[in-house]
Amino acid sequence: MARLKVEELSFSFGYDTILENLNFEVNEGEVVSIVGPSGGGKTTLLRLCAGLLDRQEGKIENSFDTQAIAFQDPRLLPWKNTIDNISFGLKAMGISAKERESRAKEIALKFDLEESDFDKFPKELSGGMRQRVSFARALVTKPKLLFLDEPFSALDIGLKRKLQDHVMELISNKEITIFFITHDIMEAIRLSDKILLLAPDPGRIIKEFTFDLPQEQRDDEYVYSQTAKLLSDREIIETFELEFK
Ligand SMILES: Nc1ncnc2c1ncn2[C@@H]1O[C@H](COP(=O)(O)OP(=O)(O)OP(=O)(O)O)[C@@H](O)[C@H]1O
Ligand SMILES: [Mg+2]
Repeated sequence: MARLKVEELSFSFGYDTILENLNFEVNEGEVVSIVGPSGGGKTTLLRLCAGLLDRQEGKIENSFDTQAIAFQDPRLLPWKNTIDNISFGLKAMGISAKERESRAKEIALKFDLEESDFDKFPKELSGGMRQRVSFARALVTKPKLLFLDEPFSALDIGLKRKLQDHVMELISNKEITIFFITHDIMEAIRLSDKILLLAPDPGRIIKEFTFDLPQEQRDDEYVYSQTAKLLSDREIIETFELEFK
């Protein structure tokens, strides 16, 4: 079974320790989320796990055959239009131009982009549209391991739900494994098997929450009640500096 395994991982930018002694696993078929305050080291952790940043201390084992990333900022190619941005990764896989175009169009429509958006360049798209293009680009290659860094932060609640539902479908079909970074605790509860709480300065995993109910059985009531539970958790309150009066 493929897995991403992180052992005793520490990382510094200069003299600044960003991550300290992290240990966790993401097993095939799982959705593991990291939640934690802004600046706590989540994106740094994702970049290390995805191999975009050189490891300094500790071990990262990644045995998935293929992976893709949807970044916090969409990072589209400014000189390519919507369809060419989405299908970019398929070219390297040796897929024909016709097939690339049809797969890109299919996923674009699924994410509520319209035909009139297909020829637009990134600067002609709204922030939420760029985020959907970026998410489509990550999914179109059907990666075994998907890294998501706040992929839905610029979307309205309806679109967010639609894309979450798409992720849910991939999860229930056991098609994908996801390492997910989000600020949105409700979103994490809807989609995750496990949530790791990353406390900052330096980034440490201080608590783990597991959710056994299959994702497709989690209705709003379940999500709301679990969210309320997490929001009254002492470590969550302290880590996010929440104060309820
Ligand atoms: N390339 C870099 N060089 C120096 N410091 C960096 C670099 N990238 C990130 N940092 C620092 O590392 C810390 C963690 O940043 P990171 O982007 O991982 O946080 P984050 O948890 O993803 O925050 P957010 O929720 O706001 O996205 C911050 O203090 C940031 O200033
Ligand atoms: Mg970040």
